[in-house]
Amino acid sequence: MSAQLEIEPEIKRAAAAPANVIVLDTKVPDTIIWPVAGGKGGTGKSTLTANLGVGLSLLGYKVIIVDGDLGGADLHLFFDQVSPPRSLSTFLTREVGTLQDVLLPTPNENLRLICGGSELVGMANLSHAAKTKLIRHIQSLDADFVLVDLGAGSAYNTLDIFALSNEGIIVTTPEPQARVDAYGFLKNTVYRKLKRLFGRNEPIADLIALFAREAGRKSGRMEDLLERLSAVDPLAGQEARAMLAAYRPKLILNRVRSKRHIDEVHRFVQLVRQYLSTEVEYVGYVRNDDKILDACERRRPVVLNAPKSAAAIDLYSVLMNGLGVSDRLHRFDARHCRKLAQVAKAEAKFW
Ligand SMILES: Nc1ncnc2c1ncn2[C@@H]1O[C@H](COP(=O)(O)OP(=O)(O)OP(=O)(O)O)[C@@H](O)[C@H]1O
Ligand SMILES: [Mg+2]
Repeated sequence: MSAQLEIEPEIKRAAAAPANVIVLDTKVPDTIIWPVAGGKGGTGKSTLTANLGVGLSLLGYKVIIVDGDLGGADLHLFFDQVSPPRSLSTFLTREVGTLQDVLLPTPNENLRLICGGSELVGMANLSHAAKTKLIRHIQSLDADFVLVDLGAGSAYNTLDIFALSNEGIIVTTPEPQARVDAYGFLKNTVYRKLKRLFGRNEPIADLIALFAREAGRKSGRMEDLLERLSAVDPLAGQEARAMLAAYRPKLILNRVRSKRHIDEVHRFVQLVRQYLSTEVEYVGYVRNDDKILDACERRRPVVLNAPKSAAAIDLYSVLMNGLGVSDRLHRFDARHCRKLAQVAKAEAKFW
């Protein structure tokens, strides 16, 4: 495929860029939580969550992947679990006391799963209490990294689980429809965060709700809202700005077929900065690759099923260059992220 050659310089640029490396030696101070969402359905959220989770475990980290797609759980199928014995529904129906109790092992002791529970009627519409409990338990999971695969759309449950972390991952494909939905999802997260920040401050909450309604009709800029807030209540303005400054969602472009797609994603990042006053961090792309579909059919993540495929190599680069995760075992650095293929190949024998 010519796209592979065409976008190769991007890989080199990424490798040459000063890596924002997270150096974690023997002990990780805090668990890093990466919820994965995207707005549009089918952009590759579950595929990327499963593969990034496996990649992190191969780099030596303790990882838990949670299937948080409350309406359409299917993450277990990447791990050859057709009918998981325990899942989120086991936890939500109080058959067990903690989320830790529904962890399922994988052939790699670093990697464990919490499967979704879509067999439970009403799962997609969790009550406020159930959602709060679920979020609290996700936050107390014991691992270096917790990845939470979320469903499509901007349901409050999805937005609130995404807001667990200030650095959740958005997955989009190059199609305008997917970018529009990713933008809409980000916009919804910003309003949701503002609503939670000022929920008890009625005049400010009303002002935000009014602005959101107006912005629904024309393209209101978040900066205009911030100025209005500051004019009415300078402290609220400052708090809103601080909240937005701390919000650093990450963006992965999936199913890339040409270099043009990568140029467009940079414009998307600018647009979000301009209209939502939010700094999205583009962390890399994954090429469109049939090896992903082959891996799906074999119910395995592509990084194990085809460790040297274009998609697997891109995933290593996203992990080590874009997301800045270093090899905990010091076998290779981010510039040589392709060496992860050898580790994956050896690991695949156990799966
Ligand atoms: N880089 C890629 N190259 C080729 N196919 C891909 C790629 N990424 C994902 N796919 C395919 O796209 C389809 C949708 O992927 P996936 O189920 O991961 O998306 P999703 O965003 O989780 O969907 P949903 O919104 O339904 O949860 C799958 O068939 C998957 O194999
Ligand atoms: Mg999915």
